[in-house]
Amino acid sequence: MKRRSFLKSGLAILGSATFLSFAYPLLRFLSPLKGRVNAEKLVIRKSEVVSGSARNIVLNNKPVMVIHRPGKGFIALSRVCTHLGCLVSYHRAEQKIICPCHAAAFSLEGKVLSGPAPKPLERIPLKVEAERIVIG
Ligand code: FES
Repeated sequence: MKRRSFLKSGLAILGSATFLSFAYPLLRFLSPLKGRVNAEKLVIRKSEVVSGSARNIVLNNKPVMVIHRPGKGFIALSRVCTHLGCLVSYHRAEQKIICPCHAAAFSLEGKVLSGPAPKPLERIPLKVEAERIVIG
């Protein structure tokens, strides 16, 4: 009797350990990555983006441009075109953002002005603190 109960207990412990060794990685795989996606912020100095210019940065592996709009302050926009994903560029002379692939044009607020782009450019959170800009 003692031997039988000892074997039952041993098998129960072994079964539980086996179950947990499969269940834990599965739960980790299925659970969302809280706090890890888009967790990084980038800080640049205001003087690095003079009025009327833009600076390209990479934030969490995403291409972003920070624009200093004359009289309107700073804005951060994704550089990924909402049409087919080409990288858009800031054009100082026209005060527009233009996609080189199919000529979509966006305002400095990221709104679609012309072309095939179906949606505005994604706006990235930005905070101006004294002499620095915190993006993300
Ligand atoms: Fe930008 Fe087509 S990918 S307009």
